[in-house]
Amino acid sequence: MNHPFKNCIVFKHKFLRNQKKNLKYDKDHVTKKLFYCTAPPTMKKSNILMTILLATLGAATAFAQSRFVESIKKQEMIQMGKKGYETRCSGCHGLEGNGNGPGAKMLFPKPRDFTRGVFKFKTVPLGMMPANDDLLKTLNQGVVGTSMPSFALVSDVEKRAIIEYVKTFAPEAWKAQDLTQAVSPLPVPQGFFDNKENFLTHARNGRVWFQELGCIVCHGTSARGDGPSAEGLMDSWDQKITPANLHKRYVKRGYTVQDVAYSIYQGVDGTPMPAYGSVMDAAGEKYPEIKEKKYIWELAAYILYLRAEEAGLYNGEIPAIPEGKISPEEVQKTVGKYFEANN
Ligand code: HEC
Ligand code: HEC
Repeated sequence: MNHPFKNCIVFKHKFLRNQKKNLKYDKDHVTKKLFYCTAPPTMKKSNILMTILLATLGAATAFAQSRFVESIKKQEMIQMGKKGYETRCSGCHGLEGNGNGPGAKMLFPKPRDFTRGVFKFKTVPLGMMPANDDLLKTLNQGVVGTSMPSFALVSDVEKRAIIEYVKTFAPEAWKAQDLTQAVSPLPVPQGFFDNKENFLTHARNGRVWFQELGCIVCHGTSARGDGPSAEGLMDSWDQKITPANLHKRYVKRGYTVQDVAYSIYQGVDGTPMPAYGSVMDAAGEKYPEIKEKKYIWELAAYILYLRAEEAGLYNGEIPAIPEGKISPEEVQKTVGKYFEANN
């Protein structure tokens, strides 16, 4: 399979071979079977890179003269960033950037090990290095719900310098690709969340996607992160990781509906959370129901509904997905068709 789920193989062949029809959604039985997940690979950069390189090649000559000046500027920035990093970040992320600062022992999740060159929160596809703007966003708001604090009060100049210094911990990864601006904006469809009736209709559709795209396998029918595959998941930093509880009023990426949408569309790199965007966009040719990314916003509406219900704003307008309603075969069939369209 040649897509970002490569290490997150939808359990199929073994399952079909071993199981009889009409098997009900049985927790023990399906555990770790429907999806076999390890953290997604970080390579796959080569293709994406080639595209970017080709696109920038034409502009290269014009930039040649200013390159010398820029490289001096960059060295200065890195020196400034080093100071900022050592005072503000090394306590958790370590002087060497390996995530092993003195504070790290007590923390879960662990501070990021920057030497691996893998980052979770970005607007670029899985496997690519985050743009400066993506990192700046992380610094401005922190990683919500974790010990990673917000540095909103630190000047932008210093933050950008710290970012340049952080890059020196994984020089190879950044040498290959170093983007300034966040890319691929996902505009919220107009009116989508405006009126209650519309919102509930979208959220109801989102609930169906939540089953059909196999979210329940990890996040559970409850969407509290207790699906049959939730146990034993590991991330790229060899740490245990649990699927998000989607009833909380935030995701790690942030508080907005756009943050939810991005985490579904681009996935969470370095974790088993798949990037649905690339698979679904590719399958869009064949399946008109997923064109224009409406499913992303419907899923986001469902997650917003769950939050609102948790806060007491709704009560049973959309019933919970019943345990046992979906057989693994059904989930396999519904997710599988989009994956197969990629192959
Ligand atoms: C109190 C501890 C703490 C401090 C101080 C701290 N961080 Fe973090 N940082 C974390 C933790 C924990 C995570 C991992 C969150 C996760 O994996 O969900 C993290 C993650 C990150 C990430 C990764 C985001 C991604 O997309 O994967 C970046 C970048 C980052 N920190 C930069 C910094 C910088 C720069 C500073 C200093 C200005 C800093 N951190 C200070 C604890 C800290
Ligand atoms: C193979 C397991 C798996 C599947 C399938 C899966 N997720 Fe996740 N998901 C995870 C894990 C693990 C995390 C936690 C990532 C982290 O904390 O860094 C997560 C996190 C999330 C987040 C929060 C991201 C953030 O910024 O904190 C959202 C939203 C989400 N998943 C939605 C979905 C939806 C919607 C689907 C189905 C379309 C889905 N997930 C399918 C494993 C999965």
